[in-house]
Amino acid sequence: MACLYCGDGTYLKNPDEVSRKLCAMVNKLKPDVVMCGPCFNYLNYGKMAARIAYDINQNTSSKAIAAMSDDNQETINEYKDKLCIIKTPKKGGIGLNESLEGMCVLAKALYQEKEIEEFKEKILFLGCCLASFLLGGKKMWGIIATWRMAVEGISEASHILQEKGDAGDAIETAIKAVEDFPYYKSVGYGGLPNEEMEVELDAAYMDGNTLSIGAVAAIKDFANPVSIARRLSKEKVNNILVGEGAEKFAHKEGFERKNMLTDRAKIHYRNRVKEVREQEIKPYAGHDTVGMVCLDQQGKMTSATSTSGLFMKKKGRVGDSPIAGSGFYVDSSVGGASATGLGEDLMKGCISYEIVRLMAEGMHPQAACEKAVNQLDHRLKERRGHAGDLSLIAMNNKGEWGVATNIEGFSFAVATENQEPIVYLTKNKDGKCIHEVASQEWLDHYMKTRMAPLEEK
Ligand code: GLY
Repeated sequence: MACLYCGDGTYLKNPDEVSRKLCAMVNKLKPDVVMCGPCFNYLNYGKMAARIAYDINQNTSSKAIAAMSDDNQETINEYKDKLCIIKTPKKGGIGLNESLEGMCVLAKALYQEKEIEEFKEKILFLGCCLASFLLGGKKMWGIIATWRMAVEGISEASHILQEKGDAGDAIETAIKAVEDFPYYKSVGYGGLPNEEMEVELDAAYMDGNTLSIGAVAAIKDFANPVSIARRLSKEKVNNILVGEGAEKFAHKEGFERKNMLTDRAKIHYRNRVKEVREQEIKPYAGHDTVGMVCLDQQGKMTSATSTSGLFMKKKGRVGDSPIAGSGFYVDSSVGGASATGLGEDLMKGCISYEIVRLMAEGMHPQAACEKAVNQLDHRLKERRGHAGDLSLIAMNNKGEWGVATNIEGFSFAVATENQEPIVYLTKNKDGKCIHEVASQEWLDHYMKTRMAPLEEK
């Protein structure tokens, strides 16, 4: 064989092991040339590709060449005197998605413009995902969610993901667990009603491979709005349905009907009506959406949300949760984000899309979340004198995650291949968000207060 093309192996956990195993493989196959290129240039994976090429040159008799675009400038500077680096012309890398195109760029450079068919015979293509497979590496998976209430759901989802299940099934399972639990008063069954004492629910689902979106808004009397949203994402058109139209669709498709207004929610409602009358308290407080981002072992990413929206909202009010780009967004080639807080303000920044956009530029999810939340918070205060609650979670397609908030003590839950399901609390200190694992005391208190008997005032 003339040439071995190898991806960056970034998905594997241990770079030393990747490098050692690849060198052993090269020593066995003895190709003339090994081409090493990152899967996605814009994520700066070039560093790993360059390191592999360098190690191959040191430890084998084959000649290794690295290939990457200007997006990896730091790596190019570091290795330019130690390694032959071919510049690829565009963003997007030479592995995975653009494999053939990238391979041809390299092949043309090496074989002086011969026809592509000829190159194919001479090159063994070993992209990073295939490399992971051949080298027996485990693939990353992960799921992150807003609020403590999601932790049981993400635990269920993590079993699905561990067993190589689909990110769509995993996220739907996780959100349904929150929708079905009667003591969470902001999502699904037991969600708090609007000012006419009706429970109107919003939910959404997005597939990061196809970019398909489905959503329902102001839907009443159905048990699992997220499942209806997912079903709608499979339609070519009519992906977002509201109110009666959404109910008609759900009924026709056989989704479970359920009166979502619990006795407990009625007591909350009556108490709030009294408070508003007696103390002139604003009715818009105490709400929280469950929003999630999920990555499966096949590299597919999904995002989904579900909420009863603002307590005492106007009939027909729609928040950010079913709005793509605001309440959620995901693209498997980059990552995803989801929001909770005051929908009216979250929508002013299209904040979930903004975080994905920043990650696509190469930012870590934590930096992307902090930048987007801090900027929107600042902009809202500057232009309007006040910013509502803004809390965001994000994960990239390597399973790295980030969270940012402008409130005290925002809780979130996360599980990955490397991490058991865990609840964190975070706070924003001078623009930096500091996450702390929630103590057992905090977790116990949370559940106790959610389930404490409720007195009518
Ligand atoms: N973020 C949920 C809502 O405003 O409805």
